[in-house]
Amino acid sequence: MLVRKPLRPAEARAADPRSPPSVRRPKGPAWLRHAVFYEIYPQSFLDTNGDGIGDLPGIIRKLDYIASLGCNAIWINPCWLSPFGDAGYDVADFCRVAPRYGTNADLRRLFREARRRGLRVCLDLVAGHTSVEHPWFKASAQPGKNPQTNWYVWNSSVWEDVPDLATVQGFSARDGRYVANFFHFQPALNFGFARPDPRKPWQLPVDHPDVLRVRAEMKRIMRYWLDAGADGFRVDMASSLVKRDPGYQQTMAWWREVRAMCDRDYPDAALISEWSSPRHAIAAGFHVDFLIHFNGLAYTTLFRHERSRDIFGVRARYGHSFFDRSGRGSVAEFLRTYLRHYRLTRRTGYISIPSGNHDIGRLSEGRTVAELKVIFTFLLTLPGVPCIYYGDEIGLRHVHGLPSKEGGYGRTGARTPMQWTGGRNAGFSTGSRHRLYLPIDPKAGRPTVETQLNDPESLLHHVRRLLRLRAESPALGGDEDFLPLGATSRYRPLVYLRRKGAERFLVAINPARTEHELLLRIRTKSVAGCVGSGVSVEISGSGLRLRMRGVSHGVFRLIP
Ligand code: NOJ
Ligand code: CA
Repeated sequence: MLVRKPLRPAEARAADPRSPPSVRRPKGPAWLRHAVFYEIYPQSFLDTNGDGIGDLPGIIRKLDYIASLGCNAIWINPCWLSPFGDAGYDVADFCRVAPRYGTNADLRRLFREARRRGLRVCLDLVAGHTSVEHPWFKASAQPGKNPQTNWYVWNSSVWEDVPDLATVQGFSARDGRYVANFFHFQPALNFGFARPDPRKPWQLPVDHPDVLRVRAEMKRIMRYWLDAGADGFRVDMASSLVKRDPGYQQTMAWWREVRAMCDRDYPDAALISEWSSPRHAIAAGFHVDFLIHFNGLAYTTLFRHERSRDIFGVRARYGHSFFDRSGRGSVAEFLRTYLRHYRLTRRTGYISIPSGNHDIGRLSEGRTVAELKVIFTFLLTLPGVPCIYYGDEIGLRHVHGLPSKEGGYGRTGARTPMQWTGGRNAGFSTGSRHRLYLPIDPKAGRPTVETQLNDPESLLHHVRRLLRLRAESPALGGDEDFLPLGATSRYRPLVYLRRKGAERFLVAINPARTEHELLLRIRTKSVAGCVGSGVSVEISGSGLRLRMRGVSHGVFRLIP
């Protein structure tokens, strides 16, 4: 395909810093500007005591590996005491590390060891609910009045229906139903109702003393871990706190209080939300929001068929996502959503498009290494804060056919052990194969860190090269300009500029198997290729001519 009309960075005009939204407060800790996260599902990273479950000493042992990738921050999924009905998102004690992972002292040691290597460690804060095993809930479920009676959202009779909220009835001798935030064993903590129904006194207002107690407790937990050395939190279901809260006004007001606490007492701590609506999350005080598979189709249209309902599983159809070799997708839908949020937040926070996470099918599903390289070139040259889900850097595969583990269901196959070596249990555990948290990918030729370290053309080395380039190039930093050039509703390669002052990079991304040629109205004296494969650029008249082979990508420095 030859696009005759030269493309200019016009679409991005509103994203240009010359028309920024007004700056109201600092963007937060300076380290976020250059942050690249690595998400660790602790169960599956490295088991050091042979019980088949990953642990904190295992994470400590692999800190050098994480730093060698070029990541400088870690997010660990919940590692607290829990019955593990939802992989630890059902917390029974927010201030105690689950014994299967180690001790609080191990977590403190992890903070110290990470800091020595220039790595930040963010924990997972499940603010909206607990496990039914949490002592607060056990007290709250008692029929007699006690200090925790109102800490969860209970109505006044098991027979009373609550049409707009998920409730559980008949759990205990307490007469009433409790509101569940996710699975039935995850009762919602009581952050109050923005618009309580006056006929239902059990719907407490947001300033009710018991609601204020719950809120104070959540802040106390945050302080506990920040004082212990944590660098911040990824907040689970951050938008879920206040009930009947149209527009999230009261939920946002509370997070702004948390942000004020951090600005005052922990200015170096990062607040990262699972909200998937940066315009809300950043306005609520979060520094970073994950734009993922809900609240709009951004992530989904990149990597999955946009009409797929199967957001967790990987049996979804991939045919029409942008990153698909069929070339039937378009990047337009993604850019529409992304740029809307980006324009509204670039002066006040960061967007993170992760490579995947513990809730989504593995990125590698149905893709070749060459295709994964194209995706990483895109993800690691975007503004904001990149985040790599453990194993995605080697193309860890989604393991199909596993029975659900710890509430994983379709997500289970994306949570299998990290594959370090060709040795026993892929180097994940010295324990018996039968005791492993989940089986290792059984397929022949499964990727490992060991083999990829020995292959300069591996996905792992590609990720390292990209992150080195990002670290060395101010224009590729989280804050700097992102100027996409001409996206159409039909398939077309994605081309964008990253810019800081006179430093400019051109990024070209062609996930389709067809060749493309583009003319760009961009002036430059010369061009130097940095990372990539299959894209050539030449200066042609007053612009640039880009030739892209099928499944190709390139990052070029434009030399003025
Ligand atoms: C989002 C988490 O990412 C997911 O794993 C969990 O099941 C739910 N929140 C409930 O906490
Ligand atoms: Ca272990």
